[in-house]
Amino acid sequence: MYDFTYFAPTEVAFGRNSESKLAGLISKQRAKKVLLHYGGGSAERSGLLSVVRSAVREAGAGMAELGGVKPNPRLSLVREGVELCRREGVDFILAVGGGSVIDSAKAIAYGITNEGDVWDFYEGRRTPAACAPLGVVLTIAAAGSEMSNSSVISKEEGGAFIKRGCNSNLCRPRFAVMNPELTYTLPAYQTSCGCTDILMHTMERYFTSGGTMEITDSLAEGLMRTVIANARILMSKPRDYDARAEIMWAGALSHNGLTGCGNDGGDWAVHGIEHEISGLFDVSHGAGLAAVWPAWAEYVYKDCVKRFHRFAVHVMGIRPSGTCEGIARKGIEAFTAFLRDINMPTNFAELGVAPTDEQIAFMAESCAAAAGGKKGSAKVLYAADIKNILQNAR
Ligand code: NZQ
Ligand code: ZN
Repeated sequence: MYDFTYFAPTEVAFGRNSESKLAGLISKQRAKKVLLHYGGGSAERSGLLSVVRSAVREAGAGMAELGGVKPNPRLSLVREGVELCRREGVDFILAVGGGSVIDSAKAIAYGITNEGDVWDFYEGRRTPAACAPLGVVLTIAAAGSEMSNSSVISKEEGGAFIKRGCNSNLCRPRFAVMNPELTYTLPAYQTSCGCTDILMHTMERYFTSGGTMEITDSLAEGLMRTVIANARILMSKPRDYDARAEIMWAGALSHNGLTGCGNDGGDWAVHGIEHEISGLFDVSHGAGLAAVWPAWAEYVYKDCVKRFHRFAVHVMGIRPSGTCEGIARKGIEAFTAFLRDINMPTNFAELGVAPTDEQIAFMAESCAAAAGGKKGSAKVLYAADIKNILQNAR
């Protein structure tokens, strides 16, 4: 068990009609001018944006708007947002959307409070010294950015992107409005991508060869079982309020640090590899994770067999009879079958991408380099290992 700091300062307004609390939450922040930041159209179509605009007016704040955030949010729009906020004197950013919108809002918030190029923070060349305050109205349960310390941005380069994250407690949102009903309009594919991402945020922390803590393991296992059960319910009942609510709250708890307390920081290799894939092929983050996980698990489980055994028994419900390794493998097979059940890809062919040998070599080098040469805890991976996993994921 390791020492830890747990910092989760976000005020959460959760439940039906929680948007009605938005005006009060904005007033509390004493915001004078709010940037309303949103995505490609879902929030406008559902009528949510007009509710949010009214709330900002009710709070007595001025308003500027910047929509058009794409999944895998782009640096170019972040730069546009920074200029707009400076020109308009924006002092609070309100993200209405999912991880992409929230992460773009966080990057803009860094950009308006720090000198120089905001991309430096994502390349790890500098650490942000400040971040403008931001709030969230969440429309998809997935990335957990509504409570996390993280922002992931893609920089356009040639025909592809370089996707990089920046972690700092400074960017944790001041508040998050979370109404599960707002997720009813999600396409089934995005719901499943979200459930996969939520699971992976806890799995990355769970598969560790570093310290562990029973309370953290038990919370993590409860969260994983809950997400698996409710993801299955949503396959046939997408408007099941309780299932939407379980998943939405799990999304926030899975990435606010709770399920990593006392461990060594977790593995994060699947995320590192996925960021290379969505950088190159612009796929949905959750689907990319699903396509990599089976090949990763197969490659590393013998080095972390006790954790995979525990996962098999406590999360996937495998009967604990037979060898430790055999049970661990059954857990991997059961989780892979679950991914298929919720229509997630379990390899690159199913994801619809066909990376060339050259692209695989590039992604492996880039992933290792972004992590300082090696990545992982369940098994420490170097570029050659990542290349093997990528090849096995075809
Ligand atoms: O743009 P609109 O029209 O809103 O459509 C979005 C988008 O196409 C749609 N959508 C969202 N809410 C909807 C809806 N459609 C209908 N009804 C609704 N209620 O869903 C699509 C995906 O949205 P996006 O925000 O991209 O999804 P997600 O929350 O999965 O975010 C993914 C991004 O977050 C990053 C990922 O890498 C990716 O860039 N991550 C951020 C993390 C963090 N900041 O802590 C951690 C994660 O590991 C992840 O890396
Ligand atoms: Zn993720």
